[in-house]
This record gives sequence, structure tokens and C-alpha cells, in this order.
Amino acid sequence: MTDLETIRAELPLLTATPSRWAELAAAHLDRFLADHAVCEQQAALYGLSLVGLYPGDDELVEQMGALAAEEVSHLRRVHHLLRKRGHSISRRRTNVWVQGLRQRIEKAREDVLKVDRLLVGALIEARSCERFSTLLVEIQDSEPEVARLLQDLGPAEKRHWLMFFQLAEREIDADLLQARWQGWLEHEAKLSRRGGIEPTVHG
Ligand SMILES: [Fe+2]
Ligand SMILES: [Fe+2]
Repeated sequence: MTDLETIRAELPLLTATPSRWAELAAAHLDRFLADHAVCEQQAALYGLSLVGLYPGDDELVEQMGALAAEEVSHLRRVHHLLRKRGHSISRRRTNVWVQGLRQRIEKAREDVLKVDRLLVGALIEARSCERFSTLLVEIQDSEPEVARLLQDLGPAEKRHWLMFFQLAEREIDADLLQARWQGWLEHEAKLSRRGGIEPTVHG
């Protein structure tokens, strides 16, 4: 197995990103990085929004606080690299893939709302890890500095999807969680199959 195949096998996702996306992102690397910085900022905000929603859940507050701090450090690192390359962070934009995930959260289902919010976090981290790893293979010889960044960030995102998932595991029965997770994975796969057409992290 190649490194990429190993990473994909360790992630829960049902589909692999098509190689055409990696070629596109490599051809528009600064656009990818500018969007990547926004993703890191949004990841920090998502973690903090969960702290705001569940302030009495001490384990969640501790872990999401740590996650947010780490995402902010990622944001700063991507920003420094962007500046060095003569670019800035993108304006906030609509992330169709993330929007497609968030729209499936059933706000009225109090019994699983927290679980769903955590599973969405897990999916965002897992797919980001898979995308970073896919792009890394494409650019490792031509863009060593960006490759180093992706190499460093990939393992963090891998830790993060598990962090979200393990927080969800505390909330409901294992069988129920598996069924719920399967539904989310299939939904994500459907959204991902429509992607690969923009040089953004989830495009
Ligand atoms: Fe990150
Ligand atoms: Fe992350």
C-alpha cells in the first residue's frame, strides 16, 4: 500500500477524492491555501461554538478548547505561508460541501442533535485529512514548503476526527451510533461525489 492508501484505509470515509481534484488544487495552489486558511478559522469557530452550546460538558469543553487552539495555530501557519507567497486569506465564502452536511442536522431531534453536531465535526476533520494527504502526493516534489505544511497538518486532522467521534460515543448506545454514523457517511459520500471541481479544500 502507498502512504496515501494507508491513510485512506485508516479513515472512515466511503469515497476517495478523485485525482483530478489534486491536479486542480496543485495548479491553483494559492487559491487552495487561501481557502485552507478559512477552513482552519472555521474549524476553530466550530469547536468554540460547541463549547458555547454545551458549557456543562467538561470533557467536551476541554477537548474542543484544545482543538480550537490547535486550529488557530494552523490558521496562523497557513497565513504566514500565504503572506510569504504574496497572498492573503480568502474572504468567507459558501462552502457547498459543509453546507450540505450542516443542512442534514435535524434541529428538532433533541435526542440526537448533539451527536449529529459531533459527527459532522468528525466528517469535516476526516475529509480534510484525506484531502490534505491527496494533495500532498501531488505536490511533494514541486512545492516542498506547502508539502511540509500538509504533512504536519494531516496527522492533527486525523486526531481531530477521532476526538469528535469519541465525544459522540459517550452520548448514545453503540448500535444507535453506528447506524447514525453510517447514514452520515453515506450522505458525505454523496456530497463528495459532486465535488472535485474547485481547487478549494472541500471543492
Ligand atoms: Fe486544522
Ligand atoms: Fe482539525
